[in-house]
Amino acid sequence: MAGKLTFTMIKPDAFAEGNSGAILKIIEEAGFAVKAMKLTKLSPAKAGGFYAVHKERPFFNDLVNYMSSGPIVAIVLEKDNAVSDFRKLIGATNPAEAAEGTIRKLYAKSIEANAIHGSDSDENALIEASYFFSELERY
Ligand code: CMP
Repeated sequence: MAGKLTFTMIKPDAFAEGNSGAILKIIEEAGFAVKAMKLTKLSPAKAGGFYAVHKERPFFNDLVNYMSSGPIVAIVLEKDNAVSDFRKLIGATNPAEAAEGTIRKLYAKSIEANAIHGSDSDENALIEASYFFSELERY
């Protein structure tokens, strides 16, 4: 059965441009409940750890630099079918391919500065939430 939790980050480009409130409104109106949320700034080491699965990819260094370039908002969300419903809401990684009305279509600038992250599996949702929040049992 699909899990109820997913993890997201509002990325540095979207936060810096003042789009966090508009993005959170879309998320809440889609039926997701905020279970934990914090504004934080990733060190390069912490950004690299979060994206360790991509460390052999050619874009890894740029991704780490970008993700540690300014504040991000880390959020744990709850909803039935959270992971897949959230990935539909945010749209394709590349905003040029994102469907109309998705968060990335509305707010992403490029495949790297793509406004928002969404976990790709229930297992990763828990791993990623635990990377930022220690009290998972309270969710
Ligand atoms: P995200 O869904 O957070 O997961 C990996 C991130 O790597 C992705 O969003 C993009 O921000 C970034 N990225 C940069 N270049 C690429 C690329 N060519 N393909 C996939 N992801 C990329």
